[in-house]
Amino acid sequence: MLKVENLRVNYGGIRAVKGISFEVPDHSIVTLIGANGAGKSTTLRAISGLVKSASGSIQFDGTELLSLETPAIISRGITLVPEGRHVFPDMTVLENIKIGAYLRRDSLEKDINWVYQLFPRLKERSWQLAGTLSGGEQQMLAVARALMSHPRLLMMDEPSLGLAPLIVRDIFSIIREINRHGVTVLLIEQNANMALHIADRAYVMETGTITVSGSGKELLANDAVRAAYLGKSR
Ligand SMILES: Nc1ncnc2c1ncn2[C@@H]1O[C@H](COP(=O)(O)OP(=O)(O)O)[C@@H](O)[C@H]1O
Ligand SMILES: [Mg+2]
Repeated sequence: MLKVENLRVNYGGIRAVKGISFEVPDHSIVTLIGANGAGKSTTLRAISGLVKSASGSIQFDGTELLSLETPAIISRGITLVPEGRHVFPDMTVLENIKIGAYLRRDSLEKDINWVYQLFPRLKERSWQLAGTLSGGEQQMLAVARALMSHPRLLMMDEPSLGLAPLIVRDIFSIIREINRHGVTVLLIEQNANMALHIADRAYVMETGTITVSGSGKELLANDAVRAAYLGKSR
């Protein structure tokens, strides 16, 4: 579905992504793990068209995305939930959810019902101002809003960052549930352990390059990965 080849992204003189290649198959969950500053967020921003790539190729169902603007990329079915929870604090939960559908003209009712089914807590808080939600609820709202654009590929940048362990478990089970509904997922995580457990395929990024790749299971069993990212070795 998504095929990234030799992608390079620079910020002025800083080479943030140095020629990476990876693929996201249809209906899969793929994760990129790696330390801070490795270039993970930059990779997602490049796919979304939020930063310009210096060279390489990003193909989505055979269409080259590199020269497209962000709205055109979203309307092809790729949505990014950025790092941090960028909800509109002075709008209600429901208003925030509806904003995610701004590129659509059709009826939203079915999708609103679907996201409320995924996130019953948001349904209970439909009329509450988003700024008064807990951190975990705001993260769920950011994901719910992203789903309203009908993504075929949902990209999430560290959705579990800063959340309590129980909420992190909820977030991961919702990611699986979303995937079961046919949405392909590209996930960036510092919680490598949880991410590798749900990933069909995984890549390790280090200072702008991909150093290890394999199935989630393979990376969980890889000694170097365990030592560097899972806090334990055999
Ligand atoms: N807006 C920016 N301007 C300049 N440098 C940036 C910017 N965003 C990120 N960088 C740099 O690019 C590199 C990769 O950052 P990032 O993609 O955010 O990494 P990660 O998400 O893996 O932590 C880092 O060296 C970071 O300092
Ligand atoms: Mg990041």
